[in-house]
Amino acid sequence: MTTSDPLLKENVKPLSMEFHDDILSTIGHTPLVRLNSVTSGLDPLVLAKVEFFNPGGSVKDRIGWPIIEDAEREGRLRPGGTIVEATSGNTGVGLAMAAAIKGYRCIFVMPDKMSQEKILLLRAFGARVVVTPTAVEPEDPRSYYSVARRLVEETPNSILADQYYNPVNPQAHYDTTGPEIWQQTAGRITHLITGMGTGGTITGIGRYLKEQNPDIQIVGVDPIGSILYELHRSGEYTTAEGYKVEGIGEDFLPGTTDLNVVDEIVQVNDRESLLMARRLVREEGIFCGGSCGSAVVGAIRYIQQHRLGHDAVVVVILPDSGSRYLSKVFDDDWMRENGFLDQVWSDIRAGDIQSQKDSGLVYTAHTTDLLRDVVTLMKDHNVSQLPVVNADDRLVGLVSEIDLLNHMLLTDHVHQASETIEGMINTDVPVVGENSRLETLMSLIKDRAAVVIVNNHDQVKGILTKIDILDYLSSQLR
Ligand SMILES: Cc1ncc(COP(=O)(O)O)c(C=O)c1O
Repeated sequence: MTTSDPLLKENVKPLSMEFHDDILSTIGHTPLVRLNSVTSGLDPLVLAKVEFFNPGGSVKDRIGWPIIEDAEREGRLRPGGTIVEATSGNTGVGLAMAAAIKGYRCIFVMPDKMSQEKILLLRAFGARVVVTPTAVEPEDPRSYYSVARRLVEETPNSILADQYYNPVNPQAHYDTTGPEIWQQTAGRITHLITGMGTGGTITGIGRYLKEQNPDIQIVGVDPIGSILYELHRSGEYTTAEGYKVEGIGEDFLPGTTDLNVVDEIVQVNDRESLLMARRLVREEGIFCGGSCGSAVVGAIRYIQQHRLGHDAVVVVILPDSGSRYLSKVFDDDWMRENGFLDQVWSDIRAGDIQSQKDSGLVYTAHTTDLLRDVVTLMKDHNVSQLPVVNADDRLVGLVSEIDLLNHMLLTDHVHQASETIEGMINTDVPVVGENSRLETLMSLIKDRAAVVIVNNHDQVKGILTKIDILDYLSSQLR
């Protein structure tokens, strides 16, 4: 068949053109993805609603556009106007995207604990970003809520998007996220689990799902330090304390949170949240942010505590992408500085330790090398054992100081300068791959002097002793 074949031309011609009128109409309809690895051993079907598929990369794209259209409809926002918002970042992007298309200016006020990526991202949309201190009360004039309100008073033709009190926020989830989940699960969802910031997500989805089936359990996830868990449990207002996960938890009850639709709240801590976010990336391939880890830890805890079985269909909201946290959750130094990484020894691979060794160079001996030359090699490089390779460069064993010494001391042997190391090679050598984990390395090296690192072709890539491992681990301490 040639390209001039009329049939082929006919076949490849699309029936109609497919495109969106603008980026805003691509918002929503995010996929549900089954979690497999991090939920192994649990009976329910656990489905993640992956919100970074939205064009601005988060669940908040769903509220930016309707908030602006609502203000336009009510005549509060006129052409050339300015949108002001107190935002931890994601809502800013949702608003900035819609504002870019509609020609509005944006000013965003962010607490200083937010990642640099989020600030740069908002500036990329042309927004002005004002950074305020995190560690002040909401009523303090320096708090990000107060600063945002003041900016609106000072700026003519401006509105506060007001995601914490604007009913359009939960309504957007009632109109889009809730129905999507109901349809995607064919009405079989039994539990919805999500973090809570403004509470718009849990309130909107929760209301919609409860209307479809009042038995569906709506479960919130709250970081330790936030007041929402205790407020829901006992009605008591406690004092908020700092935590590192971004976007969830509050020090007040937002007007957009309806705790009546929430059946239970599960508490999670920073460490387990952030480590889970890293596992979601490395084990499920889902490049999501820190609060996604919180939501999944909360879901697993809830499933275990309530002993949910095979009939449960649990949907967990993953609000945003990992790209917003590269300098935090996914930066080992930041994780270590904040005391979150000492559990991650299991991530260390043999190749990591080898590449950090002083020279990184690997010295080997050949089976045909003279004993004398091998001793010189050991002395010159201050090593007490050497991997030995054959003519094809494949590992055959190890020669060590003690083996050579024992050989030299043999009395019933004629020692000659021409003697090679061939008869002194210890072939019982523990080997690992460059990707082998620290725990494998430790189990092999326990009673041995060294472990050799080889590639798929048995070529030597390194040799590790206990002091190399110790040196590596101690260099990781702060
Ligand atoms: C990263 C992240 N996760 C979760 C949420 C919580 O969503 P909601 O404000 O609808 O409760 C937010 C809100 O800002 C967020 O940015």
